[in-house]
Amino acid sequence: MDLQSGFVQSVTHYFKEAGVKWLQTLPTLIKEIEAKYNIKMGKPYELSINYVAPARTFEGEEVVVKICLPGLGFECELDALENLKGGGIVQVLGSDAKLGVMILQKVSPGDTLASCDSEKEACLIAANVYKELKGSIVTEENDLSFSTAKNREESLRKMIEEHPEGIGPLSRDRLDDALKVFTYLNDSTKKRYVLHGDFHHYNILKGEKGWKAIDPKGLVGEREYDLIQFMLNVLPEAGIEEVLMQRVTLFTEQLNLDRKRLLLYGYAHSVLATAWTFDEEGGYNKHFFQTIESFKTIYLAEAGEWLIK
Ligand SMILES: Nc1ncnc2c1ncn2[C@@H]1O[C@H](COP(=O)(O)OP(=O)(O)O)[C@@H](O)[C@H]1O
Ligand SMILES: [Mg+2]
Repeated sequence: MDLQSGFVQSVTHYFKEAGVKWLQTLPTLIKEIEAKYNIKMGKPYELSINYVAPARTFEGEEVVVKICLPGLGFECELDALENLKGGGIVQVLGSDAKLGVMILQKVSPGDTLASCDSEKEACLIAANVYKELKGSIVTEENDLSFSTAKNREESLRKMIEEHPEGIGPLSRDRLDDALKVFTYLNDSTKKRYVLHGDFHHYNILKGEKGWKAIDPKGLVGEREYDLIQFMLNVLPEAGIEEVLMQRVTLFTEQLNLDRKRLLLYGYAHSVLATAWTFDEEGGYNKHFFQTIESFKTIYLAEAGEWLIK
């Protein structure tokens, strides 16, 4: 079976041996899924770490099949799709945890929001989709398997312990500052929700009856945090600060969110996101890195001082 080389690389990088084994079983898995659901799968989409392809049912209905390495990621995506269900997100038609497969409603024509030329229009579309994602309120008693904003703070703390000298372009001072912001945000959070967790241009697709989100990771935290992924994607080479400012204004107005908290989440998360992309060759995502300073500059211009309690 001919697989996209980037897909093979990513799966091997993320899942190591388990990923290599899974790739070997894919042809058999596909046959099993086709037989179980009485469908015929087509050529896959452009893949990253999951095998996703359009398919046609025996009755001629078009669907999408997403095959994942079974485990927590798969379970969380399915739980998040269920929790966020409604007009804003793709519908689940079937699933099998053992096979790691979900059958999804096909979003057609399926262009991603990155294909939208107008920055403002793309933001408005995203805000309208986001309005429809009504994740439930989470209390201390809820036993959910999703990762949380608190886990993100803890993972930054662990990174600092493991890299006391800093990480690539991120100095120790920068890491400590971001951790302080994360702690402040988590300690002052009033209401937590089930969030999409990976809401960005490439996970928002054009459908016949409007745009739909796909591919939630599931996360627990404030909605302000959920918009940061979008902020960090599809940025211009120059003038990042202006674009971020426009996005912050549009999202906070459209979705009635707290501007200062959104900026602080932007700052703290872009530090974490930059660290995640840092590799052995010294490479990292330059856009993520640039947004760190931009979020801080915008915050300071508006709040006057850093982190007022
Ligand atoms: N329900 C769907 N309808 C149409 N296309 C889809 C659907 N789900 C996924 N795709 C296509 O498959 C690609 C990969 O799917 P995605 O769920 O984002 O996988 P990953 O988790 O690996 O990022 C998407 O970018 C999109 O082009
Ligand atoms: Mg995706």
